Amino acid sequence: MPGDGPVGRMLDKMGRHLNRPGHMHMMLNAPGHERLVTHIFVKDSPYLDSDAVFGVRNSLIVEFPKHPPGKAPDGREMKKPYYTAKYDFRLVPSAR
Ligand SMILES: [Fe+2]
Repeated sequence: MPGDGPVGRMLDKMGRHLNRPGHMHMMLNAPGHERLVTHIFVKDSPYLDSDAVFGVRNSLIVEFPKHPPGKAPDGREMKKPYYTAKYDFRLVPSAR
C-alpha cells in the first residue's frame, strides 16, 4: 500500500493525502527537437489543488469530453463511450 512507507507516514504527519488528480503521461519525440516528457490533468478532477507530488500547473489542465459510442476522430468505430483531449505541445529545437 502506498501509504505504508516513510513517505506515507511523513505525508500523514503533515496532514496531506497520497492522491493525485486524474492525469495522462506522455513522451514526445520529433527529429531535431528535445524529447518532452510531461503529463496533462483532467479538468474538474479531484485533488487538482492538492496533488501529492505538486505536479499540477494550470497550463496542463485539459478538458476530456466524453463521447457516445460511434466513429472516433481517428476513424475507429467505438463500441463504448470514449473520451478525447486536445492539447498543443511545443517542442524545443535541439541545441545542434
Ligand atoms: Fe501517474
